[in-house]
Amino acid sequence: MKRKKKIIIFAIVLIVLIISTISIYLFIKSKELKVTTKKDIKININDKVYNTDYIIKVKNGTIIEKKQLIDTSKLGDKKITIKIKNYFNKTSNYTYKIKIIDQEPPKIEFKDKLSITEGTKIDLLKDIKVTDNSKEEIKTIVEGKYDINKPNNYELYYIAKDSSGNETKEKFVLEVKKKEITTANNSKDTTFTTSKGYSGYTKNGITYIDEILVVNKTYSISATYYPGDLTKETKSAMNKMFADAKATGLNIYLSSGFRSYNTQKNLYNNYVAVDGKATADTYSARPGHSEHQTGLAFDVNQVDNSFDNTNEAIWLSNNCYKYGFVLRYPKGKTNETGYMYESWHFRYVGKDLAVKLYNNGNWITIESYFGIDSKYNY
Ligand code: DAL
Ligand code: ZN
Repeated sequence: MKRKKKIIIFAIVLIVLIISTISIYLFIKSKELKVTTKKDIKININDKVYNTDYIIKVKNGTIIEKKQLIDTSKLGDKKITIKIKNYFNKTSNYTYKIKIIDQEPPKIEFKDKLSITEGTKIDLLKDIKVTDNSKEEIKTIVEGKYDINKPNNYELYYIAKDSSGNETKEKFVLEVKKKEITTANNSKDTTFTTSKGYSGYTKNGITYIDEILVVNKTYSISATYYPGDLTKETKSAMNKMFADAKATGLNIYLSSGFRSYNTQKNLYNNYVAVDGKATADTYSARPGHSEHQTGLAFDVNQVDNSFDNTNEAIWLSNNCYKYGFVLRYPKGKTNETGYMYESWHFRYVGKDLAVKLYNNGNWITIESYFGIDSKYNY
């Protein structure tokens, strides 16, 4: 009997012991420190971030580390250690990993147009300045082909790439100028009077009549004439016109602005290949004969006959003169302009002349106004 009692007491003690051990274990377990940080932490180089920024949650503990900036000036992996106090006031280190990366491409300071006389050597990389946010190695190259012995405007690119693969590409133009034999470059080469009594002259291969630059099938411009973009005046008048049209609910946008001699050459040659020379000549200018090369003309919206009679085309025809533009190739004036009707092509001539040519809606062509032809002599 005595022995049985002993066994029971022993069993009870054992059970109590087991239960309390389990309880203590579960209690300690439930108070275990658990830190959650962001996964896959990527920080841009030189970003201002703090060591505590990436801790999402601390369970059963408190951060006792002081909030301080992480040094993000070097690329690569980095370990961040912060001190944390657990439930039982014990301090420990918690470490998490971050990666410092670079996503910013280098910056290139450059001149968008360089000029040399044919035959002159040039180091295209000499005067550019490349900067980057990181201390990585930066490779800079020039892309594109050019020949210093062939006068032309070469469209080239500077490409700067850092070792993280971030790349910047900037377009520039290398103008290889023809060696001038004459020194009287700025004087008027020839002067003339048109059949309607306007005085004209050519200067550096460009014709002006009554101080208006004129380009058509008769009057060409030199291959090296390269404003590079629409002129400032043209652009601002155009933007104002587009904005006013938008305010009346119309959608007018630029389709083709400045085109270099070479761009026009490719365009024209493509049309010739498709339609033959005679047909191409009715709608596309030969290189050196396009107003697009002057930076004073542009096409809008759909560049084909489907644009005709749209609200946008009608508005432009009735309002463009207010901004200094003319509908350059009006309907039924092919024998004057040399081109078929183009409802989408506008030319900046300034408000004074534009009002005269608008002629209350019955457009007068530049050719008829000045008394000149538009015919190829080759
Ligand atoms: N489409 C006009 C005529 C040009 O090619 O310049
Ligand atoms: Zn055009």
